Amino acid sequence: MESKTITGGLMDFLRRSPGCFHAVRNLSEMLDAAGFQRLRENDLWSLQAGERYYVTRNGSSLIAFRLPQEKPHRLRLTAAHTDSPTFKLKPGPALTDGGLTRLNVEQYGGAIRQSWLDRPLSVAGRVLVEEQGSLRQVLVAPDRDLLLIPSLAIHFTAPDSDAPSVQNNLLPVLTASGDPAILDELLRFCGVNPETVVGMDLYLTNRQKPRIWGLKNEFLSAPRLDDLACCYGTLEGFLESEAKQDALLYCAFDNEEVGSTSRQGAASTFLRDTLERLMDFWTLSADQRHAVLARSVLVSADNAHAFHPGYPSVADPVNRPKLNGGLVLKHQAAQKYTTDGATAALCRMLCKAHDIRLQEYTNHSDQRGGSTLGNLSNTQVSLRAMDIGLPQLAMHSAYETMGAEDAACLAAFSKAFFSDTLPEIQE
Ligand code: CO
Repeated sequence: MESKTITGGLMDFLRRSPGCFHAVRNLSEMLDAAGFQRLRENDLWSLQAGERYYVTRNGSSLIAFRLPQEKPHRLRLTAAHTDSPTFKLKPGPALTDGGLTRLNVEQYGGAIRQSWLDRPLSVAGRVLVEEQGSLRQVLVAPDRDLLLIPSLAIHFTAPDSDAPSVQNNLLPVLTASGDPAILDELLRFCGVNPETVVGMDLYLTNRQKPRIWGLKNEFLSAPRLDDLACCYGTLEGFLESEAKQDALLYCAFDNEEVGSTSRQGAASTFLRDTLERLMDFWTLSADQRHAVLARSVLVSADNAHAFHPGYPSVADPVNRPKLNGGLVLKHQAAQKYTTDGATAALCRMLCKAHDIRLQEYTNHSDQRGGSTLGNLSNTQVSLRAMDIGLPQLAMHSAYETMGAEDAACLAAFSKAFFSDTLPEIQE
């Protein structure tokens, strides 16, 4: 597909995905439109060879798969994450002081806090509504600016003052009405009757629109590029691929930003449980299962750091990804990035065969660097894996920046990975 079409599709996806629950709903709708059938973990599955399915867990993680006509030779998987750093609403009434009512929140993930200040915000997430003895999940994202976290005037800020405290300094202001019971009003804005709401997972969200900018329209800035850009790019490639001898799986996991160890995170049993059901459907013996898994490959797709000219000293002197320089292959000796010589070779061969621009990322040798999905998912199902991503600046800011052309590279790579003949890796 054209680079512009992919970038436009990504911008639309970002605009419609103010948080992980909406992202999974939008991914589900794209899968529905492509003829995938929805499965539920609570139900018994009756699968058919050659068919396409998806399943969600917690409404915030999703696994989609295409089954081959025969028993699979191997599995080909991609994984990205649906969550982004933000602040989560705590239960209970709001706090009122000096006539201003603020919501009680705590930080979710490693947000760049100052990027959340002095900009209009809203809430997004899900509420649980009680209906005749059962609980129904309702996604909410009011289409208006409702909150703001004001910074402290410069006149009160000493140069050596401590970083602001979330609990004391950074609670978002909702209203000047002075009423601590205002949360009900907020729920009405979300389109639900507060009397029926018995549970909620609501997060702050930045509603600033994605923008293309720069002298030659080189850049794309948006909230939640990490990692919705990879959720979208890997799905584009997955949707355009057919399962031949191999089973194809697309994964989007929640909770990467808080360590992935939740019931639906990359380190949970979600993938393993799904694979067990597939292995049973294929009636594979333990011997056959282990052989299939040993032949399988996982692409862990999470955004990468582009070189920032204002801070050259934090970058590796050689491996410095550029915006619009194409896909990034990540390496780390301690294997927080799962790439090794064999999977790096596989990645480079696919990129070469399809003229996909590829760059390499390593941490500066004195920097600890970040972690991502692949090594955590490997704690449940150990697979040969590589870590890739799209180059971006300002990772974990409320408004992040990438190259406008790079999204197409990930879609092309994902399609090549799912479609091409892969070499057997001999040890
Ligand atoms: Co990420």
